[in-house]
Amino acid sequence: MKPTADLIITNANELLTLSGHSGKPKTGKQMNDLGLIKDGTLAVSEDTIIACGTYDEVLAEVSTTSDTIQVDATGKVVMPGFIDCHTHLVFGGSREDEFEQRIKGASYLDILRSGGGILNTVRSTRAASKAELIETSLGHLNTMLEFGTTTTEAKSGYGLTIDDELKQLQVIKELNDLHSVDIIPTFLVHTKAPEFKSKQEYVDFVINNMLPEMQGMAEYCDIFCEQDVFDIEQSRQVLTSAKNLGFKLMIHADQLTDMCGAQLAASLQATSASHLDHISQKGIEKIAHSGTIAVLIPGASFFLRSDTYPPATKMISSGVAVALATDFNPGSCPTESIQIILTLACVQMKMSPSQAICAVTINAAHALDRADTIGSLEVGKQADIIILDVPNYKFIPYHFGVNNVETVIKNGKIMDFI
Ligand code: NIG
Ligand code: FE
Repeated sequence: MKPTADLIITNANELLTLSGHSGKPKTGKQMNDLGLIKDGTLAVSEDTIIACGTYDEVLAEVSTTSDTIQVDATGKVVMPGFIDCHTHLVFGGSREDEFEQRIKGASYLDILRSGGGILNTVRSTRAASKAELIETSLGHLNTMLEFGTTTTEAKSGYGLTIDDELKQLQVIKELNDLHSVDIIPTFLVHTKAPEFKSKQEYVDFVINNMLPEMQGMAEYCDIFCEQDVFDIEQSRQVLTSAKNLGFKLMIHADQLTDMCGAQLAASLQATSASHLDHISQKGIEKIAHSGTIAVLIPGASFFLRSDTYPPATKMISSGVAVALATDFNPGSCPTESIQIILTLACVQMKMSPSQAICAVTINAAHALDRADTIGSLEVGKQADIIILDVPNYKFIPYHFGVNNVETVIKNGKIMDFI
């Protein structure tokens, strides 16, 4: 007997399946292939995709009843929900004054050195109650979902004490229960807490006291390896201890200066390394070889008015698996929209529209170690699907600064927006 579809999406002008790469991310020329089916149809039962192909192929495999919800996608693009694999979702306050200071010439690191930047958000996040953080974060998650993001990563890192970091991670856990967007939690060692005299003292405290408390609350451990923040040796100490405790690893690497962070990520087999604006040739070779996913954040380069963007096309031609993310945070990239990141990736890093789309779907799923369940439209995968009111996939980064997503289906359910 043929399985019955609860939901069927028919006749998409382009159905982007991104299929065939659940085992390994797309690299090199594979990133030009979106697994595109013309006039595609997709069938869903409960929260799972049960058929995918042309209309005739799908109807040969599944049956429909009068209860089957039919969505006509004629003239539109259907693809997997976006995956945002690097965000600082939970924070108190905002930093529009620093935005203005930077326009007048102050640098991100100048502001951080004078006690602003991340430390500004640390003060507001410590002062906020869990309920307040939940309320503001739910608003951000609503925007993300409306703009097509169905899974996001979320970091702590604005607490810098055991209790305040745990507060952020508890908020992330509650948000995951409350909201349709799936959230993957990361403990971020973001900067030295002001209460500590030296960075090394703080690093020792993180290793001996904080990491054990964060176990079970976060899947990943991440560190901001940067000039004036944590050096390569301190980053190695924290990430090695985290790995020994069973955390998977991520790193903020080579964003403002080349710190050899990519090489560290490769040597520790980190799942991903983010930013990489100043990665060296050696760093590119090392992460291409280790399989560490490069999570590029052109939104932060843009918003910090940097002259240097990550060398995306060089990385892709060298065999690095590239993903893209918003880095949503109140300082260096205050946007929930992954759609504008696609535009920046194409315009500023010369990625092709198809490479950019791979980078926010199947490769972003790999960057979160979730490619077995999300990131492509294939039988057996989670029914996280978006329908865009655009005639073809190139239109997604082309028609920018607006929401091209018309319908979001999360776990097989059509989402309602007010
Ligand atoms: O990824 N680089 C460090 N962390 C964030 C910025 C956080 C902030 O400025 O609050 C980033 O860009
Ligand atoms: Fe970040």
